[in-house]
Amino acid sequence: KEVVLSGIRPTGFLHLGNYFGAMRNFVRMQQEYDCYFFVANWHSLTTHPDTKELKDSVHRVIAENIACGLDPEKVTLYVQSDVPEIAELYLYLNMLAYKGELEKVPTFKDKVRLNPNNVNAGLLTYPVLMAADILIHRSVKVPVGKDQEQHLEMARNFAERFNHRYGEVFPMPYAFNYSNDLVKIMSLDGNGKMSKSENQMATIYLSDSDELVRKKIMKAKTDSGPTENNSEKPDYIQNLFTLMSLVSTKDTFEKFDADFNNCVIRYGDMKKQLAEDMVAFLAPIRARAMEIQHDKAYLQKVMREGAEKARISARATIDKVREGVGMKY
Ligand code: TYM
Repeated sequence: KEVVLSGIRPTGFLHLGNYFGAMRNFVRMQQEYDCYFFVANWHSLTTHPDTKELKDSVHRVIAENIACGLDPEKVTLYVQSDVPEIAELYLYLNMLAYKGELEKVPTFKDKVRLNPNNVNAGLLTYPVLMAADILIHRSVKVPVGKDQEQHLEMARNFAERFNHRYGEVFPMPYAFNYSNDLVKIMSLDGNGKMSKSENQMATIYLSDSDELVRKKIMKAKTDSGPTENNSEKPDYIQNLFTLMSLVSTKDTFEKFDADFNNCVIRYGDMKKQLAEDMVAFLAPIRARAMEIQHDKAYLQKVMREGAEKARISARATIDKVREGVGMKY
């Protein structure tokens, strides 16, 4: 079976972008592949030095993933810091990563712009740690949203350099989505991607109440509608259609799509329908996540067993790596 790996940072509440860009694929992939999914708590320190909420966030990410359908008996679900082999691989890969290429990464430049007072070395080497996450299990498929594409390219570069210098250890990992195109869910205000830290009213969290979900969708950016038949959809309208295609029935989607193409669409009606379908979709996930999150004994067990399984695979890789880099005496 091919090895699959992906991670999510515990930097806040999970939202629809995380779900549709990543978690939905995790749930599907667990039937077909040898899957490793983890909570990237080391990564969160690069931008979130305040750790008061970290423990709760880690628990929530685990609980929400299980609530969405991940089965910890089928997949290996673990917390990054429970697998120290990742840090060791990160150290070796750092010798193969160049300062210049790291400084050019768009996510690094964005983070520098957002927070110029905390440009730490961990932030600069973020893609190296991410490569170590992926390569530690010799994964080949990495289900992620579109924003992670460049990081995957860098992981391949580091893997290739390692193989070239020290001997073949790593297969090449690629970003994966069932539909071929990687997903990018936009913020409901039309400004960039939906994210944990941007406008809270334009981000729908998996934990939002029914009322809040309705309110946020009804506030989503629209306009006065198309004036020509079959015109191209502005990206913020396309985003509503994307969300509709994910949570509504095919008939509902096709009705509003036809209305758009015939210039008779009423966005108020579309949003009402989308809001109801979204509420119906999210409510059971929210209820289940809440239950799991309160069951600390169960969470502890999942994390402990996940770490044990992850370390077996990680040790096997580190063994080969140490041999390659001349660390076996
Ligand atoms: P993170 O925590 O920002 O996001 C987790 C996953 O959600 C996807 N995602 C989105 N997809 C579509 N539309 C959006 N608006 C949207 N927002 C987030 C992300 O693409 C991601 O798949 N660097 C990673 C975490 C990570 C990782 C890894 C991932 C660390 N090591 C190894 C894969 C493999 C990150 O910051 O994701």
